[in-house]
Amino acid sequence: MKKENKNKIDEIIRVNHAGEYGAQRIYSGQIKFCKTVKLKKELEKIIKEEYEHYDYFDKMMLKKRARPTFFSPLWHNGGYLLGAITAILGEKYVHACTEAVEEVIVEHYNEQVKYLENAGIEKEMLKKIKKFCADEDNHRSFAEESNKQYSDVNMFKLLTKGLTRLAIKVSKKI
Ligand SMILES: [Fe+2]
Ligand SMILES: [Fe+2]
Repeated sequence: MKKENKNKIDEIIRVNHAGEYGAQRIYSGQIKFCKTVKLKKELEKIIKEEYEHYDYFDKMMLKKRARPTFFSPLWHNGGYLLGAITAILGEKYVHACTEAVEEVIVEHYNEQVKYLENAGIEKEMLKKIKKFCADEDNHRSFAEESNKQYSDVNMFKLLTKGLTRLAIKVSKKI
């Protein structure tokens, strides 16, 4: 594999590993602090998929000897805090958070799909990313569906999207 491709693959593994870890942490914070059993059950279903996504990139990280991000503490604490705060603020913030984060993640995975398809490399990883991207889009549409009557969370969604984009940018390189 060309050096340039190898660097890009490392970057993909690093950022996805961090992102899936962050997703788990957000959902854990929400599960811990959410106020209804129904919501808790829904979130528990989602987090199971996030564990599966994370496990894959964790294995790939070892296999390809990619370096993890130096920002793990940020994902660990920042993710959990975001989850906890949104759960305490109430159900509409939980869904707004999911909708915003997952929308950015879907964009981000789609970019990787495009890259891998064009480069014609890592067919197995490409398949996994496509599957995970479909899962994330389900998480997003479930949240959107649950929340569509609220427009007062739009500012919060924008803020969360911005934070997610920043965290992704940082974790690709550092
Ligand atoms: Fe995920
Ligand atoms: Fe997700």
